[in-house]
Formats: sequence, C-alpha cells, structure tokens
Amino acid sequence: MGLISISFIFSLSMLVMLSSTTYSQPQSPKVIQSTTYLSKEFEVGHGEVADKKMYNIEFPMGHVGIKSIYVDLVDEHGNSVPLHETYIHHWYILKYIIKKNMSVSQDPNDHTKPSGDLIYKRNDGTCNKGILPHQWSSGSETRGTSTKLPYSFAVEIGNHADITEGWEEQWLLGLLVIDTRGAENKKICIQCRCDQFNLPANFYDVTVGFHGKVTHEYKAGVLCCQDKFQCKMIKGFQAPRRNLAIRYNITWVNWDQHQIPVRFYVLDVTDRVTNNGSETIHDCQAEFTILKNNSTNLFHVQKASIPMKKGGYLIYASGHTHTGVINATLYGQDGRTLCTSTPKYGTGTEAGNEEGYLVGMSVCYPKLGSMKIDDGETVTVESIYKNEFLPEVMGDMHFYLADELPHKA
Ligand SMILES: *[C@@H]1O[C@H](CO)[C@@H](O)[C@H](O)[C@H]1NC(C)=O
Ligand SMILES: *[C@@H]1O[C@H](CO)[C@@H](O)[C@H](O)[C@H]1NC(C)=O
Ligand SMILES: *[C@@H]1O[C@H](CO)[C@@H](O)[C@H](O)[C@H]1NC(C)=O
Ligand SMILES: *[C@@H]1O[C@H](CO)[C@@H](O)[C@H](O)[C@H]1NC(C)=O
Ligand SMILES: *[C@@H]1O[C@H](CO)[C@@H](O)[C@H](O)[C@H]1NC(C)=O
Ligand SMILES: *[C@@H]1O[C@H](CO)[C@@H](O)[C@H](O)[C@H]1NC(C)=O
Repeated sequence: MGLISISFIFSLSMLVMLSSTTYSQPQSPKVIQSTTYLSKEFEVGHGEVADKKMYNIEFPMGHVGIKSIYVDLVDEHGNSVPLHETYIHHWYILKYIIKKNMSVSQDPNDHTKPSGDLIYKRNDGTCNKGILPHQWSSGSETRGTSTKLPYSFAVEIGNHADITEGWEEQWLLGLLVIDTRGAENKKICIQCRCDQFNLPANFYDVTVGFHGKVTHEYKAGVLCCQDKFQCKMIKGFQAPRRNLAIRYNITWVNWDQHQIPVRFYVLDVTDRVTNNGSETIHDCQAEFTILKNNSTNLFHVQKASIPMKKGGYLIYASGHTHTGVINATLYGQDGRTLCTSTPKYGTGTEAGNEEGYLVGMSVCYPKLGSMKIDDGETVTVESIYKNEFLPEVMGDMHFYLADELPHKA
C-alpha cells in the first residue's frame, strides 16, 4: 500500500461475475455466499507502472456482512502473474457514497476528476486526510495473507440506516502495479526509487503530494511510481504489452441478528501524534526510508504510540509491510503484545512463492475475549526491518475490533 490519492482520477469499472457458489460453514448455521469477480482490464508495457482507479466495482449487494476478500492479479488467460513479472505494489478497496443518478466514467484510464456529490468513507484508523483510508488493502503479500473473519464477525455494509436518502454506497478499487519485465534492477525499481524511473524533466517543479510540493530530498515513493512511468530498462529488451486484471473473490453472509459488526483500523508507524490543546492531531507519511545504519545493530525499529478513542475486543490483526521486514507488532499501553505478524518470503518462481519477495504476512486470531483494547488506551505499532538501505517501506497494522462477543448457543 502506498498513499492513496483520493478523487483525482475518475473511472468506473464494469466487472464480470465469473462464478457464484453457496455453501454452509460447518460450525455455523449461516449460509456463506462466495462470488469471484474480474475487474476491467488494463494494459501494461514492459517496465511500466500502472496506477489505476476503478469506481463502482462489482460488489455484494444489499445489507450483508463481508467475511473475506481474496485479491489476485491475472493475465488475459486468467493465470496469476508472478511478482517478478508484474509486482503488486498495492491494491485497496475504499467505500464512498454517491448521489443516485450521478454518472461516472467507467474507464480505468479516464483521469478526469469527479464532479462532486461523492463522499469517501474512511476506516476507523487514525491517519489524516486521504492517507490510508481504505477498508481492505494489501501488497505483494496479498496471495499469502488471510483476510478471513471468524464466525460470527463480519464487516457490515449496505445498511440503509447508515446511508443518506438519495445516495448509495459504492466501492472503489485502486491499484499500483509495476511491470518489471526487462527492468535493469527489478528489486530496486519496485521500491519506487526515483532514480530508477524516467521522471519528467519538470518532476520536482510540478509534483505535489499529501505533504505539499516534493523537494529534491524526495528519493523514493509512490510519487515516483505514477501511471505510465517507466523503470530503467535493459538495452534492447523487447516484450509485448499485455492486458491484466484484478480477480477478487468475496465471501459474505446476509446480515441478521447473529452477525457481530467489526470496526477496521489501520495504524501506521509513521503517525506523528501531537495535541493542540483540545484535539489529538495525526500526521502519517505512510512510506518511509531506511538508511543503512553503520552501527553494529542489525535491525531498524520504527514505531508510533497512538491513542485509541474507542477500544474493543481484538478479533483479527495483521501487518502490512514491504520486503525486508522482520516482524510487525501491536502492543497495548502496558506493553502486552496484542499481535506480532511475521513475513513469509518466497523461495520459488511461481505466483505466490516468488523468491526473495514478501509473499505473505501472518494473521493473529486471538482466542475470543482474550485481547481487549480499552477506550482511551494508547497502543504502540512497531515494525522491525533489516538494517539495509530500503528506500520505500511501510509499517501498518490492520486490525478489527468488536464491541461484543458471540453469545454461547
Ligand atoms: C433517477 O432517475 C430516474 C429516471 O430518470 C428518476 O425516476 C429518479 O427519480 C431519479 N432519482 C433521483 C434520486 O434523482
Ligand atoms: C478465491 O480464489 C482463489 C484463487 O483465485 C482460490 O484459491 C480460493 O479458493 C478462492 N476462494 C473462494 C472462497 O472462492
Ligand atoms: C485544534 O485542531 C482542531 C482541528 O484542526 C481545530 O478545529 C481546533 O480549533 C484546534 N484547537 C486549538 C486550540 O488550536
Ligand atoms: C543507528 O543505530 C544506533 C543504535 O541503535 C542509534 O542510536 C542511531 O540513532 C542510529 N542512527 C541512525 C542514523 O538511524
Ligand atoms: C554508512 O557508511 C557508508 C560507507 O562509509 C556511507 O556511504 C553511508 O553514507 C553511511 N550511512 C550512514 C547512514 O551514515
Ligand atoms: C521481532 O524481531 C526482532 C528481531 O529479530 C526480535 O528481537 C523480536 O523478539 C521480534 N518480536 C517479536 C514480538 O517476536
């Protein structure tokens, strides 16, 4: 995941429903629905970045509870594309509400701005403005990281009581992928290192990020990974352009009194928490750089302590990080470990197991009721990386909290 720039590019994707199945979960009487969708296609050339936003994607309709979302990057034949061909920097799914009858462009390549009457809905995390607002997201670890919520927890969507009359809820799928076929240095290119890209000559004069105009100090990050930017290539390398798409399958249940709603939080290790006397102010960078530290220590530790207005029972937690990570941890105020998420690195060539790439993050499912964050508690998020030069990394904890636990049947 990188920064998510809201509302700059407007597009609406038509999605094709591939399959729909229904099955019963053994430990519960509830019927779990499952559908696989395919996004609109987009094109990438060798060495090229694709940064796309697809509005109004196909999503379960009605008042339902989402149990899991599995996201994959596929080629024209529906085969998963390995990270060493096209790197999944991030994808995210973001909720918004829109006035009924408002028309939106359906083309992921249409970069015209929305005309108003569209309001993004943030998650319950603490980052400011449009930084990390999504309800679901992942990166290169997407194929190996579970998003599944245990029975009877679910993310409640489509509740008419929450939606203003005359408006409707829709979903935006954003993605940033980097085709590294023929790139001079794949592993550096995927870190969005500015000196690896053919930046426009006026890049440093015209580029504005969440924290204002970029300066020459900006050496890596998503601003250097914009749509159609190009990695430095091996001379003479040729390969055909290709069409890719996002395939995602979603499991959900119809909402009823047996479902317990959860709140989704993203806490970021770069969050600079201050207080102006009346309010807590958050300022997240999301991305950060690790300079190899010449002291003898082997690790780089990045952390932030963040007050939680509202607490709850911890149901699920997992880290979102980049290659080079050793672990990511969420601590309570008294220092207790709420969750440590550890990486899985690939060892082969096939999609989901690409050698040297981060291909999964472990997920914590605490024993129900055993982990609770109190209202007003200050938690700490920490990510520990190898002490190497890593120009563009992240450290987020993604977690779900619930106000209640299932009643014993
Ligand atoms: C949307 O358009 C339809 C057909 O023109 C109309 O009947 C309906 O009242 C409109 N709804 C809103 C909310 O404007
Ligand atoms: C989702 O898709 C993946 C591969 O595309 C598959 O392995 C998995 O079983 C699917 N899950 C569901 C719930 O359909
Ligand atoms: C603190 O920040 C908030 C939000 O930016 C603002 O509304 C409020 O007026 C500020 N209070 C003080 C005392 O500066
Ligand atoms: C390098 O590591 C030492 C020991 O942990 C620490 O005191 C120092 O601040 C670090 N320097 C940088 C540039 O991060
Ligand atoms: C570490 O040492 C190398 C080689 O002497 C130097 O180029 C680099 O700038 C140093 N890094 C830091 C963070 O001081
Ligand atoms: C995270 O990794 C560091 C470095 O290997 C290790 O010292 C620490 O114990 C790990 N944290 C947890 C909670 O496992």
